[in-house]
Amino acid sequence: MRHSTPRRRCAGLLVPWLLVCVAALAACNADAARPAPRDRHAEPEVETRSLSSNDPRFHASWPHVRDAHRLSKTLDRYVKTTVDEFAAEYGDTHGGTAAPELNIAWRLVADDDKVVGVRLESYLFAGANGETAGRTWWYDRTSGRLRANAGLVRGTAALEAAVLAAVADPDVDPALVSSSLRQGAPDVDFTDDGRLRVRFAQYDVAPGSSGVVAVVLDDAATEALLSPYGKRARAAAVGQKPVGEDLPSVPPATATTPTPPTPPTPPATAGTPGTTPGATGKGRAPVNCRKVKCVALTFDDGPVSDTNRLLRVLRRADAPATFFVLGQQVQTYPETLARVARQGHEIGIHTWDHRQLTTLRPRKIRGELVRSQLLVEQVTGHKPTLFRPPYGASDARVLRIARSLGLAQVLWSVDTLDWKNRAVRPILAKVRSGARPGRIILMHDIHRTSVDAVPRVIKLLRRKGYHLVTVSELLGTPQAGRSYSQR
Ligand code: NI
Repeated sequence: MRHSTPRRRCAGLLVPWLLVCVAALAACNADAARPAPRDRHAEPEVETRSLSSNDPRFHASWPHVRDAHRLSKTLDRYVKTTVDEFAAEYGDTHGGTAAPELNIAWRLVADDDKVVGVRLESYLFAGANGETAGRTWWYDRTSGRLRANAGLVRGTAALEAAVLAAVADPDVDPALVSSSLRQGAPDVDFTDDGRLRVRFAQYDVAPGSSGVVAVVLDDAATEALLSPYGKRARAAAVGQKPVGEDLPSVPPATATTPTPPTPPTPPATAGTPGTTPGATGKGRAPVNCRKVKCVALTFDDGPVSDTNRLLRVLRRADAPATFFVLGQQVQTYPETLARVARQGHEIGIHTWDHRQLTTLRPRKIRGELVRSQLLVEQVTGHKPTLFRPPYGASDARVLRIARSLGLAQVLWSVDTLDWKNRAVRPILAKVRSGARPGRIILMHDIHRTSVDAVPRVIKLLRRKGYHLVTVSELLGTPQAGRSYSQR
């Protein structure tokens, strides 16, 4: 397994990590004082950057930390290199239910006035097997420099000894642990309660079925191992637990109320248009889409900080929209999502981390959907009943699981290709040529140019006599397990 093709390919992707390694500086003054943990509900001072494509399929998101220039530059470079390598290798592959896929997700693992930590997790699906790997970057706000992960501990030999002593999984090969650590330990962070955690990429130290192997040191081992800088990093990491972190990654089947059975799934088609008072924006009169021309604007992949700008645009225009959100983004911007809900927009889910559902096992598909559904409910008080599969990739298994979770699948009928043409004019052209009564328009609030286009998109549609409605208003009562995309 260790020398399988996907592994070598992923190893190629990991090469940039080595390029951005930065030598550890001399140990700083010890600073044992732990600052108060950040308010876990406060949104971080970071913007989300993203790159995505349907062909080939990749979705990468990473943070831009405004006052950590070198960190942000390094992350930009790392992600772009990884995506470029993926596109160069798989750029000639097209669609299908198991197309090659690259996914890069991020998490702020530490953030205070001294230290910032960012972890990126990449998943590469090369057509047969998937492979997951992670890397964590540590940035010293005091010096304005990146610090090598080795700088968190008092020597790599001590780290190796502590990790070997803590390995519990019998499938892990100690010799591989040693050789991996000697090449550097790129994925080191802390648990919520401050214990040092070292993770190894899938296939690196154990068979692929073990996934990413995480070794957590106990309190005493952590304390003995951390350098003064490591202690400052730990202080910045404690209290970073985001909302929804306590949700199980794959909730049990009893976590949701089963919905009554619905008729067999028809091919993607329109539902019965009508009015749905429950999905109507606050203060807006219901619109009867059987009598007037309606279209639904939809925004995928958020929320991000720029979603707030979009909300201002929509409020000024008194226009409702439907947001298909990623669980991992909701974790980072819960207050923004709450604002989306308060403004009366409709919220559906777009999986947890934008994975291509058709390549996943049923248990994982279920986890992607349930976890996101529960988190949105936790943040907004309403359980979503709509979902949109990333890349529009779906099959009978996905729909069966969606039905059991009370979710209707919503695709789109007008792709503005805003992810590809990052400019206002092409978006307007797509909307102008694609608008028909009953259509669902796909956009992404993660792209600045898409948000820029929205005032003119709304004006254009209204000039043509369209009423803007939410997806549920457009479809009438979407049924769980059915797929909708109006032609
Ligand atoms: Ni998407």
